[in-house]
Amino acid sequence: MPTELPASALYSHPSLGRLWKKVHQAHSPFLHRKAVRLLYQKPAFAIRRLLSCPYALVALGCADGAKESLLLQKLLPPALLLAFDTNLSLARRAARRLPAHQKMARQVDLNSISAFLNPKSKIKIPKSSRALPRLLTLFGVLPNLDPLPLLRSIRRCMSKDDLLLLSANFAPGALGHRGALAILPQYDNRLTRNWLEAAIRRYRPKLPKGYLKFGTYSDPKQTALARIEARWMNSNLPIVVFSSRRPTHPQVESWIQASGLRRLNRWIEPRGEEGVWLVTRRA
Ligand SMILES: C[S@@+](CC[C@H](N)C(=O)[O-])C[C@H]1O[C@@H](n2cnc3c(N)ncnc32)[C@H](O)[C@@H]1O
Repeated sequence: MPTELPASALYSHPSLGRLWKKVHQAHSPFLHRKAVRLLYQKPAFAIRRLLSCPYALVALGCADGAKESLLLQKLLPPALLLAFDTNLSLARRAARRLPAHQKMARQVDLNSISAFLNPKSKIKIPKSSRALPRLLTLFGVLPNLDPLPLLRSIRRCMSKDDLLLLSANFAPGALGHRGALAILPQYDNRLTRNWLEAAIRRYRPKLPKGYLKFGTYSDPKQTALARIEARWMNSNLPIVVFSSRRPTHPQVESWIQASGLRRLNRWIEPRGEEGVWLVTRRA
């Protein structure tokens, strides 16, 4: 029995994607606060200055592309859009929604980035687009996946003209753990339980009988990092079904540094709960 379910187990099936979307619609600050939505347009000015056209947009873990859509309202449409997610129906929805001259949607595993982001990967990119500079987006994914290995593997696939725009969700206030406690109700609610319980029912090998318990804990790999977790309590060890990492701003900066990336700019929304970083590969 795993001690932790992979994040993809919560999203990959179309029905789980629909249940996640209901949670998102009810509880995501992105949909309920204009200041958070603005975060996804503010970087456009800097991107226009730095990215030569034509370009390719690679939307990693894009779900239905709502955040990328806001960004693209302020940018020229990309020559090529690659919508990548573990949930293919969501990725296809993103591809329909986002403007681009050519579009592809694929089911991928972000834990094996080089399989699809490397120029030599199996995904057949039209020849005319292979050498284009890329704008990679990584919105809402860092809470769910181990940030350092993910950012390092993205960095290894970036060329010097590529840009990466990533978002992070914070624990409000300077104290990560106390801040995470304050936003626990965004997670410990009926819709999130419906979603996670459906994922548990689909998971194989079958999980033992149990119940969900939400709380804030330390990330096992970085004890100073707060994680909101939903644990499946059963007669054996608890199984972490869902986790959302809630870093402080300096922790995000340190991930960027440690991954061989360089910060070009960053934008934080006024309440300090969400931020967006524009980064490039360190030479
Ligand atoms: C919290 S949602 C964020 C979605 C969207 N980018 C947003 O910010 O609203 C996390 C997204 O990452 C995708 N995801 C999670 N684990 C993944 C994996 N291992 N490989 C690919 N996509 C994954 C999910 O399907 C989901 O669309």
